[in-house]
Order: sequence, then structure tokens, then C-alpha cells
Amino acid sequence: MADKKAQLIIEGNAPVELPVLTGTVGPDVIDVRSLTATGRFTFDPGFMSTASCESKITYIDGDQGILLHRGYPIEQLAEQSDYLETCYLLLNGELPSKEEKAQFVSTIKNHTMVHEQLKTFFNGFRRDAHPMAIMCGVVGALSAFYHDSLDINNPQHREVSAMRLVAKMPTIAAMTYKYSMGQPMMYPRNDLNYAENFLHMMFNTPCEIKPISPVLAKAMDKIFILHADHEQNASTSTVRLAGSSGANPFACIAAGIAALWGPAHGGANEAVLAMLDEIGDVSNIDKFIAKAKDKNDPFKLMGFGHRVYKNRDPRATVMKQTCDEVLGELGITNDPQLELAMRLEEIALTDPYFKERNLYPNVDFYSGIILKAIGIPTSMFTVIFALARTVGWISHWKEMLSGPYKIGRPRQLYTGYEQRDLPANRD
Ligand code: CMC
Repeated sequence: MADKKAQLIIEGNAPVELPVLTGTVGPDVIDVRSLTATGRFTFDPGFMSTASCESKITYIDGDQGILLHRGYPIEQLAEQSDYLETCYLLLNGELPSKEEKAQFVSTIKNHTMVHEQLKTFFNGFRRDAHPMAIMCGVVGALSAFYHDSLDINNPQHREVSAMRLVAKMPTIAAMTYKYSMGQPMMYPRNDLNYAENFLHMMFNTPCEIKPISPVLAKAMDKIFILHADHEQNASTSTVRLAGSSGANPFACIAAGIAALWGPAHGGANEAVLAMLDEIGDVSNIDKFIAKAKDKNDPFKLMGFGHRVYKNRDPRATVMKQTCDEVLGELGITNDPQLELAMRLEEIALTDPYFKERNLYPNVDFYSGIILKAIGIPTSMFTVIFALARTVGWISHWKEMLSGPYKIGRPRQLYTGYEQRDLPANRD
């Protein structure tokens, strides 16, 4: 895959020949690994033009607005697959047969409960703690409970940890919500499917078990599929970097959750609703658009823009359709926040500032509106992103560990002091 070469000429030196690697689809990459022999490094803060690894899991064409998992378009997965089948696909590379799917679902169900003692962990948190703060702590703490699957060099252990994480995330996420509400935590129900079980643990109580709406469960499942993976984003790269040191999978996923929390990444779904609240009314949109364009104002239009997509985010298109289905099911015909969001989208999409910079609505723009309609509190939005993304994180972690890899250790362009001595007299 390296039949092309690139030449790097550094003034006054012989040209350095660098292999050019070609993937299945997507741009070629220049392999700069041999550059250190010349005593030089590349400089690329924010990884604007750096491929940090080789991967076979997910492909994004940001110019065309294409997202493929193991080659399958996200739109087809959202329509024709379900979350657990997508999990199997991401983890194993192929769609499961009927028997493989049944076995996979059964294994996941086998692991839905958490160690009973894990509950005591929650009591250490304030009831008003942000659920993402609790998630970072509790998911990291899983490594203190499941010692029998921590040998990262054992493929069997890696598999069991992956299953445990996918199975337990809905339980932990719902426990986080119940803790904040002061309600009893609900045990998982293995007679329900993945999304139904999550909604059951979120909204039912021991004294009132209501049936879960199939339309809302289907929408929840779609939201999980749409968030399942997104190649080398900030949180996935964090998981890979943490994993490259040999850290255990629960610690790595906790690191991923922390990276996801930021408003530039997974925290944007919560931030979109906060922004819509702040804008308040259609009459204020122009003022906020002006703020978003002002370089001296830190305000950004949350839910707009993406590092890779310079076209529509295909997940946002599916999300918008799902949004209509959910609002229809719930009989919400004139939601003021949705109206505000639609108007904002319309104005932003025709504004030269946003057009010139290819700033389109991303997945987070609509997900918050659907989640809110389902009854999920805003503070849980990013938790749901983390729940769904866990399979992507763990697929990347497993992919890295199953091949040759090195500890991730970037270098730097140092611009601090040269060596200097402490002053002799410091009185
Ligand atoms: N509102 C206003 N201006 C924006 C926005 C925005 N949402 N996003 C980018 N820009 C401007 C930015 O100021 C810059 O302008 P200029 O060229 O004049 O300096 C230009 O567009 C390029 O943006 P950038 O910040 O260099 O792009 P990036 O790739 O570093 O950042 C981003 C990508 C997603 C962090 C950014 O677009 C953003 O902060 N968006 C809002 C937060 C958000 O919705 N995040 C969710 C991302 S999708 C879910 C996920 O994968 O986590």
C-alpha cells in the first residue's frame, strides 16, 4: 500500500523520501515516521492534517457528508439495523448471522446488572452533581470491581470487558439519573430490548411500571446508532491514547467520557438547549447570529460546524426525521423550541458567514430536541452520547490492542526559556 513516495526538501539538505500510504478510500497519507532520523518533527496542533492511526472501523468523507461503519452507510444502519447489531458490526467487522446476533444479545443481557456494591459509590456524590461527573467516576471504578477481565493482553479478557461495558452503560447512566432524582435505582429487565430497558430504568419506579412506547424506544435506539462511532474524534483518540499506555479498559473509557464532556464535542447537545433557552425568542436570533460572527465574542452557535464535515452531517439528517417522528408520536405540534431551532437553522444556512465556512447543523443540533421531547433532562444528554459511543471507543481500543502499537507520545515545538541557572543569591 506504499508504492508512491513524497519528497521533503529542507533547505540546504538532501531530499528526504517519505512513503505515501493509500487506504481503501479517502485521501493518501504521507508516512512521516522516518523523519525523526533527520532530527525534525512535524507540527500539527489540533491534528488538522494528521492521521494518528490506521483503522478499519469507520470512514467519513466530510466533503460529501458520508459516514460508513465497516462500509455500511449510517442512513441504512439507522433504518434497517438496530443498536446491538450495529455494536456487533463495529466490534467484529461484519454483520452477525441470526444465530450470532441471538448469542450476542444474550451475552449482553447476561451482563446488564452492576455489582451491588457499586451502588454505594453513588452516595459519595452530591445529589446535584452533574451526571457526567458521576459517569467519569463510576465507570472508572468498574476496574475496581471486575478484576477478572483486566488483562489487556488476553483477547478473552478484552472481549469480556467490551461486553460488560456495552451492557452496563445503560444501567449506570439510568442509576445516575435516579440518584439525582432521589428515586430508587431500577434493576435492568432482560425481557426488554436495549433501548426499552434503558427507558424502563430511567422512567419507571418500583411502584409504577408503565409500558414503554415502541416509537420512543425505536427513536432512542436510532439515537444510539447515530452516536455509536465517529472514527478518530477527541474522545476516541483519548481512549486510544490512554489505552496505548496499557491502562485497563474501564479506565480508558472513563478518560473517553471526560473528553466527550466538553461543549465542543459531546457536551454540545446539552449546550444547544441552553443556547435555545438563552435566545428565547425568534426575534432575538439576529442578535445571537451577530454574536456568533463576532471574533471578540466567545459565543458560538452550538450544534453548528464540524472538524471533518464540510457538508451536511448525515447523522443530523436522520436525526431531523427522527425528531419529526417523536414529536408526532407525542402529539407535539407547535414546540416553541423546535420552531426556534428551525428558524435558526434557516437563517444560519443562508448567512454568508456560515456558508463560506461550511458550517452546517451537526448531530447535536436535533438530538437535544428529541431527547427533551422523550422526557430526558438536559443534564443527561451527554450521558446518552457516552452510553452510545462506548461501543465505538471499545472497538477502537480492541482494534489497537489486537495489532502492533506503540505508546502514544507526541512531541512539541518548545518555545520556553533555554537552559538557565537559578540565581546564586535569592534572598
Ligand atoms: N459558530 C460560529 N462560528 C463557528 C462555529 C460555530 N458553531 N464553528 C466554527 N466557526 C467558525 C470559527 O470561528 C472559524 O472562523 P474563522 O475561520 O473566521 O476563524 C471557522 O468557523 C472554522 O472553525 P474552527 O473552530 O477552526 O473549526 P474546528 O474544526 O476547530 O472546530 C467545532 C469544530 C465542532 C469544535 C466547532 O465548529 C464548534 O465549536 N462548533 C460548536 C460546538 C458543536 O456543535 N460541537 C459538536 C460537534 S459534532 C458532535 C461531536 O462529534 O462531538
